[in-house]
Amino acid sequence: MKVTVFGTGYVGLVTGTCLADVGHDVLCVDIDEAKVEGLKNGIIPIYEPGLEPMVTRNHKEGRLNFTTDAEAAVKHGTLQFIAVGTPPDEDGSADLQYVLAVAKTIGQYMDGFKVIIDKSTVPVGTADKVNTAIAGVLAARGCKTEYAVCSNPEFLKEGAAIEDFTKPSRIVVGTDSEKVRELMHECYGPYNRNHDKLIFMDVRAAELTKYAANAMLATKISFMNEMSQLAEHLNVDVEQVRLGIGSDPRIGYQFIYPGCGYGGSCFPKDVQALARTADSVGYDAQLLKAVEAVNYRQKETLFTKLERAFDGDLAGKTIAIWGLSFKPNTDDMRAAPSRVLMESLWAAGAKVVAYDPEAMNETHRIYGKRDDLSLVGTREIAAEGADALVICTEWKAFRAVDFSWLKAKLNFPVIVDGRNLYNPEDVKKAGLMYYAVGRGDSLQDSL
Ligand code: UDX
Repeated sequence: MKVTVFGTGYVGLVTGTCLADVGHDVLCVDIDEAKVEGLKNGIIPIYEPGLEPMVTRNHKEGRLNFTTDAEAAVKHGTLQFIAVGTPPDEDGSADLQYVLAVAKTIGQYMDGFKVIIDKSTVPVGTADKVNTAIAGVLAARGCKTEYAVCSNPEFLKEGAAIEDFTKPSRIVVGTDSEKVRELMHECYGPYNRNHDKLIFMDVRAAELTKYAANAMLATKISFMNEMSQLAEHLNVDVEQVRLGIGSDPRIGYQFIYPGCGYGGSCFPKDVQALARTADSVGYDAQLLKAVEAVNYRQKETLFTKLERAFDGDLAGKTIAIWGLSFKPNTDDMRAAPSRVLMESLWAAGAKVVAYDPEAMNETHRIYGKRDDLSLVGTREIAAEGADALVICTEWKAFRAVDFSWLKAKLNFPVIVDGRNLYNPEDVKKAGLMYYAVGRGDSLQDSL
């Protein structure tokens, strides 16, 4: 099938590459010339395991091409995926200007039947707006070409995007057109062999499904983070509670890990956007707002623990941080808890020495060169001579630690673990103070 993908960001690039990899003829279009040039030469603007060789191979074999030529792109595909950004507006609602600009471009160059597919995360009602934008341009052109707009939200996790795309739990398509159903079956056929994963529904239901899925997952996390705070007050180990409730299949083990708050490009933005959508129709979405507020508070928890450990005196202290990205296997720093921690530490007059396996360039890009931030090449160098160690991201490389060695390296024996990676007994045996998340008795008095 001939497929066009607008936007070579995270979602667009993964979608285009995976569709090319099963044999579709894919043309990805972006307005950023440097990015398109880079992609043609195998330079991938994001870190995503497995993506680079897949892009290079499919490009070399001619099934995956990149262009800035919007006209050629519109003429190429029967399927036109819109996968451009929907950044939050000032009030947190999704900004649709890029989506609607693509819709107009499609209307401008369309010369035959097209299916326009909203892949970007967009609020309920966006497909109608895309429809209207295309209809307006077609009318101005005096063109009567047929088209259909459908919603096909993505459920990709960063760091596992290829796996999620190629082995999806479901493929949601919002449409009322039989022709679109057939074409989407053909497009996703290669991922749909063992059992039918396509779930067809109304366009607006598909749009809400995406937000509802992310909001549900964010709610699970905020619930557990709330439990972690309560557990600390009650002197209970929340990890035991996690195992106790996760064993109930109605609850499940996934997404109930307490931590230092959810980040990334989706949960914070989508929960906020859904709450704003609710406001816009006169409904006060109290649960969504609470999910957001609990997450915000949880991101402050690492700093609060450090303050407690040092009796409020962090000025002049050097704090080592292991892990900066919002989660492992990505270099994405968007809404990362490490940012809240670093910014609070700097405001308190402390210095940060940090190591992350992938996100150091990104951290440098965001914060530039500053005296109170050193980005170093290994976890060991970061810990050497620091006053305390904080773990913000659960990269695999942080799981096994010689705590006696660590005790010898740190100026003060303090570990603040935002991901509950270690057995409190092991840490404490080495003479370290261990401040984890919601682990009751592991909290100790300040130094
Ligand atoms: C998420 C959704 O999982 C995906 O389906 C959607 O398409 C985009 O948003 P992503 O943002 O890549 O994907 O990351 P995810 O693995 O879901 O983690 C999100 C955040 O939640 C991370 O900050 C992670 O650390 C945090 N998290 C996750 C927890 O704190 N506890 C958990 O139990 C699970």
